[in-house]
Amino acid sequence: MSHAEDHQATRRDFLFYATAGAGAVTAGAAIWPLVDQMNPTADVQALSSIRVDVSGVEEGTQMTVKYLGKPVFIRRRTAEEIEAARQVDLDDLIDPIARNANIEDDAPATDENRTLDEAGEWLVQIGVCTHLGCVPIGDGAGDYDGWFCPCHGSHYDGSGRTRKGPAPENLPIPVAEFVDDTTLRLG
Ligand code: FES
Repeated sequence: MSHAEDHQATRRDFLFYATAGAGAVTAGAAIWPLVDQMNPTADVQALSSIRVDVSGVEEGTQMTVKYLGKPVFIRRRTAEEIEAARQVDLDDLIDPIARNANIEDDAPATDENRTLDEAGEWLVQIGVCTHLGCVPIGDGAGDYDGWFCPCHGSHYDGSGRTRKGPAPENLPIPVAEFVDDTTLRLG
């Protein structure tokens, strides 16, 4: 096999592996030169940032991708969900901090401070309960129409804020941004 053929085979193998292992996740083009070096350090760098095609996520639904070994919930909220989340009085919250890695550490947990876009359509959160680390169930679950962790009964609202049960903190928002209308970069 020529060097060029070998190079292509490596790319194909990795693409298959990445697709099979990460579901809807597509790796960013910028990582290929790093992966091609087959260098462990480069591999870790590649995994620290992924691109996700969210074009198939309808309003009122969500997708889950695996990122750095954890589930990330990507929800496209309806106008009703946004309105309900934005009406919540901050005094009613268990955790008053936004827990959003994209803004200041002490920003308050308003819904506006937890969504990726100004309109509040996109809510992206690490799907790990802040009590003991179970994966909450979503799609309007629990007493606050958000997420519910059945392990010990933690309820999160439609903004991913802990509202009832033992979870001490809101679901964390990872470093994330849209790089175009339908592509979200995590990390
Ligand atoms: Fe979620 Fe305990 S791990 S409530």
